[in-house]
Amino acid sequence: MRAKNNTLVFLSGCALVLLAACKGPATGGSDGKDTAAAVAVTDTLNPKNFEAVINGKNTKLYTLTNKSGASVSITNYGGRVVSLMVPDKAGKLVDVVLGYDSVQTYQKKGEPYFGAIIGRYGNRIAKGKFTVGGKAYQADVNDGVNTLHGGRKGFFGQVFDAEQSGQTLNLTYTSPDGEGGYPGKLTVKVTYTLTDDNALKIEYTANTDKETIVNLTNHAYFNLNGAGDSTILNNTLMIAADGITPVDTTLIPTGKIQPVKGTPFDFTTAKAIGKDIGTTDEQLKNGKGYDHNFVLNKNDGSKPIAIASSPVTGITMEVYTVEPGLQFYSGNFLTGATHDGKGGKAYVLRSAFCLETQHFPDSPNQPAFPSTVLKPGQTYHTSSTYKFLNK
Ligand code: BGC
Repeated sequence: MRAKNNTLVFLSGCALVLLAACKGPATGGSDGKDTAAAVAVTDTLNPKNFEAVINGKNTKLYTLTNKSGASVSITNYGGRVVSLMVPDKAGKLVDVVLGYDSVQTYQKKGEPYFGAIIGRYGNRIAKGKFTVGGKAYQADVNDGVNTLHGGRKGFFGQVFDAEQSGQTLNLTYTSPDGEGGYPGKLTVKVTYTLTDDNALKIEYTANTDKETIVNLTNHAYFNLNGAGDSTILNNTLMIAADGITPVDTTLIPTGKIQPVKGTPFDFTTAKAIGKDIGTTDEQLKNGKGYDHNFVLNKNDGSKPIAIASSPVTGITMEVYTVEPGLQFYSGNFLTGATHDGKGGKAYVLRSAFCLETQHFPDSPNQPAFPSTVLKPGQTYHTSSTYKFLNK
């Protein structure tokens, strides 16, 4: 959708300290009654572990701290949110995102995009094929037969130029014409701001010199019990969406919009993520759990489009955006196979959820979906805010 003056507005060494011991092993039943949870606190991420030279550029760790002591640490390697410390109901700071404590671990094969900026195209494009400006393109295929999160040259592995000013971090990256198979030189700016009311605001702008497609998001993995061993099955979630875009077995949308009413996908009223995740349902089977684009009800960005909450820490997260979609992913591909999470944690199945604000997956091949085309002279602009409350 085009707004005035040619702006394109897309509608629509980290030590982990266990504070609260669990009653038993942090297990996740599918009944949503899992109350066992280890509350983990990152007390010192060692910035030295983020100093490296990657792709000929320096990487570092940047920490934004607000006046109440909440903080977010971000590396310019992939623009990744490494830790996010917010107060729980007792006022103690809890790290609510999964991540690693060195930049090298973020470079490992199969790393699941922890906290990364995702581009050029968030989520999947069927077989990596699309046509824009009258020309057919082939993006890098990196997820079975499809392209996921920009392909192997995606922004998650690029080094951004960074400039911190108080509680704001500006990250910029110029993606050369043809990178990952996408047309146009794309100049991207991502601004992270940690406000004094405990909100992490992420603003994205992009410009191109050739007609192209863009769909930017952030891939933070949240666990409001505190990042660690527990599952998120007891975290409650509300999503203001009456429909989803159902997918095939390769997670490509069929093109239909499916109402959530009467299905496990009805999060219009808050419920535990684990409540219906074990239900026999074709879509849950295709996604191996929740891994779907929710079609957000009309909103102007002033009200939360999603609210998640932990019964253990009392931490509530509100999500705001003007994007038309939200990918709710319930961490179905986390396995706990390695113990290289922050503080030596193994991130087990469903130990985090992602709420990725976005345009719909495979939009370039679905004429009925909101457009992701960006033309020279237009400015892509979008934002998402994750706000934390502790009542
Ligand atoms: C996708 C999942 C994928 C995950 C990590 C999510 O955005 O929808 O299918 O496994 O990212 O790659």
